[in-house]
Amino acid sequence: MRFSKIVGLGHHVPETVITNAQLSAMMDTTDEWITERTGIKERRWIDPAKDTVANMATKATRLALKRANLTEKDIEFIVFATITPDYFFPGSGVLLQRELGLEGIGALDIRNACSGFIYALSVADQFIKSGMYKTILVVGAEIQSTAIDATTRGRNTAVIFADGAGAAILQPADKPGILSTHLHSDGRFAEELYVRDPGSSRPREERQPEQILDTTHFKVVMNGNQVFKHAVVRFMEVINEALNANSMKKEEITLLVPHQANLRISQFIQEKMALRDDQVYNNIMRYGNTTAASIPIALSEAWGEGRIKENDVICLAAFGSGFTWASALIRW
Ligand code: ACO
Repeated sequence: MRFSKIVGLGHHVPETVITNAQLSAMMDTTDEWITERTGIKERRWIDPAKDTVANMATKATRLALKRANLTEKDIEFIVFATITPDYFFPGSGVLLQRELGLEGIGALDIRNACSGFIYALSVADQFIKSGMYKTILVVGAEIQSTAIDATTRGRNTAVIFADGAGAAILQPADKPGILSTHLHSDGRFAEELYVRDPGSSRPREERQPEQILDTTHFKVVMNGNQVFKHAVVRFMEVINEALNANSMKKEEITLLVPHQANLRISQFIQEKMALRDDQVYNNIMRYGNTTAASIPIALSEAWGEGRIKENDVICLAAFGSGFTWASALIRW
């Protein structure tokens, strides 16, 4: 039996730090409101003259390759999770393939928002297990700052979402590795957290240049209370599903790396599952919510800090737009 394992992790965040104090100068908000509701103290925003989703992903990939003692040429396939691709189409996977100079290899784009990285990891896991590829690059990268309405009108989401990229390299192993992945969705709640436009379901007459300026373009619509209520239930469900599938108990989790949606959500799960502080990794305080990039950035940082060692049991869990939710249990 062939399994897959993560052999390298990397991340990249833009240089520019935006503090809560800076946001307070742009809109009617306060450090106290943001900290109390989300736990976020600062986040990174790109410099549009320098950064793209694909080049942040390239930097994250190069670090992951270095840590894995591999080179670009070893990568046989790319799975790229993002909801903020550089272009409407094609997806950012091919741009990353181009930047890495990997002529001709396949590149798949995944757009399951905050659950995107775990969906991408699951796809890569199946390709490795089936024997189709030996080295797969899995990336989560987002630029959300360029669509943020940094005025009081956009304050309920502008203070939360931010930019960054994370990468993982997967290779075969004779024992797991990735123990299991669990993917779910419920489209009844699609409009509780979404960006409607530029969507193709609008009639042609509403898709003229003057309408591009209307407020639904790139506007994140979020029903925060609904998201919170569903997130806490689904996070716990999908973590327990992963534990049950592997006949493990929550005490056996070395580190839970949840999607960094909101510190209050992570803390709620930690409390309900009675996990110790050292069993849960959070870095949302420094980076905000980077959607598909949040788990690989957190995983890469945790690994860099020596928080993940051989044989540890790592649980990844996510919930987000769709709604979608997912988990992965990994024996390092
Ligand atoms: N600063 C100051 N006031 C604000 C801000 C802000 N940035 N944003 C909204 N407000 C105001 C609102 O206008 C509202 O004012 P009103 O009472 O005069 O109308 C008031 O604060 C309360 O607004 P709510 O939206 O009810 O705020 P709530 O207390 O629910 O907090 C939050 C919002 C933090 C989003 C909360 O609903 C939450 O934690 N939701 C979970 C969802 C989440 O975290 N989403 C982000 C991640 S999505 C994902 O990754 C899955």
